[in-house]
Amino acid sequence: MLLSFYIHIILLISFAIFSVVTLTFIKRIYTENNLLSSTPPASIRDTQIEFRSLANGTNKSPSNASVARNDESDLRENIFGSAKAKNSILDRLTFINPPNTVCIYPDNTENYMIIIVLSRALNFDFRQAIRATWGRNEKYKGYNTIMKTIFFVGTDDSVQLAVRLEQARFNDVIEIVIPENYAFVAHKELASLLWTRLYCPLARIVFRADDDILMDTFSLLNFIKHDLNLNVNDGLYGWFRLNNSVHRGDRWAVTRMEYKPNTYPPYTFGVGYLFSNSSCQRLLNAANQPNHQIVRIGDAYITGILRDLAGIPFYDFHDLEFSYTFHDQLPCDEYFMDNPRLLLCMSKLHLGIREDLFEFYDTWDIILSKHNTSLSDASY
Ligand SMILES: *[C@@H]1O[C@H](CO)[C@@H](O)[C@H](O)[C@H]1NC(C)=O
Ligand SMILES: *[C@@H]1O[C@H](CO)[C@@H](O)[C@H](O)[C@H]1NC(C)=O
Ligand SMILES: *[C@@H]1O[C@H](CO)[C@@H](O)[C@H](O)[C@H]1NC(C)=O
Ligand SMILES: *[C@@H]1O[C@H](CO)[C@@H](O)[C@H](O)[C@H]1NC(C)=O
Ligand SMILES: *[C@@H]1O[C@H](CO)[C@@H](O)[C@H](O)[C@H]1NC(C)=O
Repeated sequence: MLLSFYIHIILLISFAIFSVVTLTFIKRIYTENNLLSSTPPASIRDTQIEFRSLANGTNKSPSNASVARNDESDLRENIFGSAKAKNSILDRLTFINPPNTVCIYPDNTENYMIIIVLSRALNFDFRQAIRATWGRNEKYKGYNTIMKTIFFVGTDDSVQLAVRLEQARFNDVIEIVIPENYAFVAHKELASLLWTRLYCPLARIVFRADDDILMDTFSLLNFIKHDLNLNVNDGLYGWFRLNNSVHRGDRWAVTRMEYKPNTYPPYTFGVGYLFSNSSCQRLLNAANQPNHQIVRIGDAYITGILRDLAGIPFYDFHDLEFSYTFHDQLPCDEYFMDNPRLLLCMSKLHLGIREDLFEFYDTWDIILSKHNTSLSDASY
């Protein structure tokens, strides 16, 4: 009697949880559709058909998207050619590009910076906020650097159509053919480098960021203008940690089979680091070895292990800082107001708490006024 009572209670609770999850999901899909409804309607159907044919590999469509897809093997051949290792992990990393070219070179590619943003396929709203704030494709007054932000998402069947509409609309989302799953973060990160090498090799500066950070773009541009000389100090720039031990026992554990040493080579936080196109190539060459193994911890792998294998020097961001805000209650905008050296701020968004994207916009307003800039006079 009592037992069946409990079973009923448990069933009720499960049903409640199920309903909430379903509702949240439906609500999300609905918001995403709204978000994308600003897409010009004319081309949507064509795009869908085109992408379907991309997905099943029958590249009959003469559009540039198919061309790009077909060319990928040629590009690989050109770049790795005879240096291509048997069993290279790089062969297993492939992409679905938007219909039009993503990387459009300016006259002077020495001043071209691409910002690689690793994003979850579901995070449409984050990407939209970044396009409008710190990741604007701009050339700001007073700086030579020309910025282009490119988002890399994994494959997530539940939102694939929406992602492809977004690709067609904004031409800045690359789909990496890897499941959207924590275990593959390092694969995604390596894939974003490979894409850059294949499709945007002449962008001299590459900045890698997460989609849940807030950034003072002008601090980055000032750093590039005053402190960066890749022809003299070509390396990887970040906030390096030395002697970080390899975790063997917790949730992010890496086994001895995966990585034997007890400490990682110096590595920096994955949330924001900078390197040159030639370092990008060297990192990929280091990964392009027979039976090279990816270690799952993305930042330790790329900026530590692979960087070390490639013999790329590391440098700290001169005079720039980052902060977390999720341990205390101070929001990122206050950090930006108080600290002139703050480059990056990781807000609660970083913990997956995502109710409030106004933070992107509020912080951006503060950053603009901090640098005496308004967008009307920001670029030319
Ligand atoms: C591939 O997509 C095209 C266009 O939608 C469709 O006609 C064709 O049947 C598909 N082929 C396969 C093998 O799925
Ligand atoms: C496709 O590529 C050609 C050059 O290869 C270019 O002239 C044309 O404008 C492109 N079309 C689209 C729709 O991007
Ligand atoms: C890196 O970019 C510069 C400037 O755009 C270019 O001259 C150089 O060839 C590129 N290097 C590689 C390895 O692609
Ligand atoms: C890192 O560890 C090694 C050996 O354990 C030690 O010799 C070295 O001084 C350490 N470096 C730093 C910066 O702590
Ligand atoms: C912005 O303007 C104020 C007042 O004119 C000045 O004190 C400040 O130094 C300026 N800041 C920057 C970053 O130019």
